[in-house]
Amino acid sequence: MKILVTGGAGFIGGNFVHYMVNKYPEDQIVNLDLLTYAGNLETLKPVEHKPNYKFVKGDIADRDFIMDLFEKEQFDAVVNFAAESHVDRSIENPSIFVQTNVEGTVVLLDAAKKYNVRYHQVSTDEVYGDLPLDQPDLFFTEETPLHTSSPYSSSKASADLFVLSYFRTFGLPVTISRCSNNYGPYHFPEKLIPLMISRALADEELPVYGKGENVRDWLHVEDHCQAIDLILRKGRIGEVYNVGGHNERTNLEVVKTILKALDKPESLIKYVTDRPGHDMRYAIDPTKLETELGWKPTYNFDTGIAQTIQWYLDNEDWWKNILSGEYANYFEDMYGERL
Ligand code: NAD
Ligand code: TYD
Repeated sequence: MKILVTGGAGFIGGNFVHYMVNKYPEDQIVNLDLLTYAGNLETLKPVEHKPNYKFVKGDIADRDFIMDLFEKEQFDAVVNFAAESHVDRSIENPSIFVQTNVEGTVVLLDAAKKYNVRYHQVSTDEVYGDLPLDQPDLFFTEETPLHTSSPYSSSKASADLFVLSYFRTFGLPVTISRCSNNYGPYHFPEKLIPLMISRALADEELPVYGKGENVRDWLHVEDHCQAIDLILRKGRIGEVYNVGGHNERTNLEVVKTILKALDKPESLIKYVTDRPGHDMRYAIDPTKLETELGWKPTYNFDTGIAQTIQWYLDNEDWWKNILSGEYANYFEDMYGERL
């Protein structure tokens, strides 16, 4: 197969490119990425010389460019990771989320339709909104109504609806995966886990929103990549699959786990103003993926967070380069006055 991976210079897309290039040497992997602040070619260093890998710089929302690329490359499948992905940025500037996450998806769908390409959309459990803290036996299933909270999740839900409409209206062979919060190597240090690891290592304060009681369901990125590969090859066309491994933790539990592993004091924790519209709890029911496709995660949170912390200790150059670049200014704008 010749597979187009969009957003492959980002966190999950980058891990997926590694996974696919190594697992399927006979397949061709083309990585298309615009290299926004979140895209980093350093992430691709371990695979960039492989004969079955190629990088192309470009915008998924650039219709002429995308149509030309599909004409030239004759892909068998596209897996769309490319997105603006950070909730806090979507609160600051929603429009770019509509442009990339909605318009970009529609352009890719049009190209997939014209060239008859199998399409997989990487979505999020945030499209379901949130769950209350006091009903721990409630989980998101694929039947849970879409009920978004942030401009980010609204853009992802819109994209999902377009994907499903291209199945129903045009018969395009599509699937969607909706996963919980990922963590693991190559995670950009604006997100909770890598932010807390990098700041704790520098003995800097750790900004916990509100009381730190919000719950996220943590999925190791390698388990996510395996799930997408399964869905792409064996998933039922037109279907949505939830991906998650029952690893719920409060933000405070996550931060304390990181501090303990790094032998740093809890006095580094700084409670800051809460995120507007902050979702309380995400929790995935992955039964459909497990029973239909036999998926099982290989990590639990304890093994996964230990591996992740070790990766950040072993790969300081990767994240220190990011922190010394454009992101440093953004961080100061976001948190400067609050810390
Ligand atoms: P990321 O922000 O790390 O990476 C996004 C990548 O997309 C970057 O490399 C960026 O340069 C690229 N990109 C942005 N705009 C583009 C455009 N117009 N054209 C081409 N490339 C563009 O994101 P991530 O965390 O790796 O998330 C990947 C996907 O998974 C996203 O669709 C996100 O919504 C979804 N998702 C992420 C999580 C998570 O926990 N990180 C959870 C659920 C779903
Ligand atoms: P994040 O990694 O931004 O993912 P998402 O908002 O998509 O779940 O945030 C995870 C949780 O951590 C979320 O409840 C917000 C919280 N959080 C903090 O408390 N402090 C921070 O500095 C960040 C970035 C997030």
